[in-house]
Amino acid sequence: MKSRTILAGLVVAGSAALAHAETPVERGEYLVRGPAGCGNCHTPMGPDGFVADQELGGRLVEDGEAFTAYAPNITPGGRVAQWADAELKKAIREGLRPDGSLIGPPMPITMYRGLADSDLDAIVAFLRTVPAVDNKTPASVYRIPLPPAYGPPVETVTAPERGPTAEYGAYLAGPVAHCMECHTPMGPQGPMLDSALGQGGFAFHGPWGTSVAANLTSHEDGLKNHSDDEIKTMITQGVRPDGSRMFPPMPYGFLAKMTPDDLSAVVAYLRTLPPLPDAK
Ligand code: HEC
Ligand code: HEC
Repeated sequence: MKSRTILAGLVVAGSAALAHAETPVERGEYLVRGPAGCGNCHTPMGPDGFVADQELGGRLVEDGEAFTAYAPNITPGGRVAQWADAELKKAIREGLRPDGSLIGPPMPITMYRGLADSDLDAIVAFLRTVPAVDNKTPASVYRIPLPPAYGPPVETVTAPERGPTAEYGAYLAGPVAHCMECHTPMGPQGPMLDSALGQGGFAFHGPWGTSVAANLTSHEDGLKNHSDDEIKTMITQGVRPDGSRMFPPMPYGFLAKMTPDDLSAVVAYLRTLPPLPDAK
């Protein structure tokens, strides 16, 4: 009798936990600290990796021929604190600041234009709650022409249904985690999503040397010969099937926080990418 009562209690507690609706701040925390990985660019790096008490406090992201880009402080200690929620959302999804200036690369605005309204709301709700960091980065310098805008205003984007499906995986690999921005070759208009989606080949230079974004298509130069589990380990641990470690800037530490369903969705989507050989 007694054990049965305990069991019944557990069942009730379990369903109560399931019924707990995720708040926007919780959803935003999952996205920002997980698959969206905003901190991969916006959190300062020290000798031991990301500086925990400077989360999202801003840093130099790229100093190359085309530009010297600083990802600013996006905590309540930065200038975003003065922006209304609608203004901050426009900055993230459309790359336009309240003064009309354009947010340049490598902030992946081409991808963020597809962020669903509810996820954008959640990201902003969470950003308002992170500890304020006292840091100011210099202005970025672009030695390439930037467009006046990334496209027409984004009115509304409906959230796709969540689940371990290729459809939801497309949303995660695109607008949320911008895998396809790094893993598609760059053309003059940005990533060549129409002609070379997931083909890889873009080179990243940093303290680690040079890493080249891999081919993620279903071609044998891509992921064809890898099992789902091997792909998941590469995404979350940065370790290849032969045990070798992969280089930055792929945000392994952030992607490791993806739920099992979200990770399965991403892999299901990658399996649908039309085969493309490595660019010669
Ligand atoms: C690949 C690197 C990268 C990632 C990932 C990234 N950003 Fe950025 N972000 C930048 C850079 C670089 C700038 C500044 C560009 C410039 O100076 O024009 C920027 C600018 C911004 C700005 C404008 C701030 C200001 O004061 O002007 C906001 C807001 C912002 N990012 C939010 C986010 C959020 C939220 C995420 C995650 C959903 C994110 N960023 C992910 C690189 C990145
Ligand atoms: C900031 C850029 C960047 C982002 C974002 C990114 N990657 Fe990568 N990825 C890379 C680079 C660079 C490599 C090559 C690393 C190396 O060779 O050491 C890589 C390697 C890989 C590999 C290894 C493939 C192989 O056969 O070696 C897989 C799988 C992969 N990425 C999947 C993804 C997925 C899925 C996402 C999104 C959830 C993602 N990546 C996001 C840059 C990125």
